[in-house]
Amino acid sequence: MQTENRNIKWLDTSVSREQRESLNGHRGAVLWFTGLSGSGKSTLSNAVEQRLYEFGYRTFLLDGDNIRHGLCKDLGFSHEDRTENIRRIGEVAKLFVDAGVVVLAAFISPYRSDREIVRSIMRPGDFNEVYCQCPLEVCEQRDLKGLYKKARAGEISNFTGISAPYEAPLAPEVAVNTAEDNLGTCVERVLAMGNLSRLPCAGAVAKAGN
Ligand code: ADX
Repeated sequence: MQTENRNIKWLDTSVSREQRESLNGHRGAVLWFTGLSGSGKSTLSNAVEQRLYEFGYRTFLLDGDNIRHGLCKDLGFSHEDRTENIRRIGEVAKLFVDAGVVVLAAFISPYRSDREIVRSIMRPGDFNEVYCQCPLEVCEQRDLKGLYKKARAGEISNFTGISAPYEAPLAPEVAVNTAEDNLGTCVERVLAMGNLSRLPCAGAVAKAGN
């Protein structure tokens, strides 16, 4: 339904994103961690957030298991529900970016099209895909939550990598191999990403470009 049909109009706020970013001292952005269950998304995003916090960035971490306790507790793991899960998270992440915050989002987000939709609702440079690469065998061996075992036993359906697909990113901003590289190395790789080098605020970038 068109928003006009519902008598809803977009309200431009008095305080702009650029002003919020200036106050924060850096621009807003999303670091979107995607990968199989057990690929290290939560561990890596937590470690990156810790470092950003120490550098003085305003950050917020959105994590799959936590969000599914609240905002998305009505959703399961069908293709349709995962698409809705990622759509909601994407909209929430966008609000945080408008607040001038660096959002770390850690979700399996197995469908390429869902991730690209999130990218498309943000400004260029806002969305940064971090692919947590790890072979299924390694994730399954780790089996931190015991879910792979249950999935193999047929106790969980639609389990990513076992009975549901995972579509790896084709051109992520960063790819880390959590099976081969240690946590510190992966953290450094994420922090070295172009869009994150002491993020200047978007307003400053726009002025510099004039
Ligand atoms: S997503 O596919 O919609 O992005 P999300 O990241 O929110 O998934 O949630 C994944 C977490 O839910 C996993 O880390 C795991 O603990 C749990 N989980 C429960 N059932 C499944 C399933 N069928 N497939 C994958 N993860 C599952």
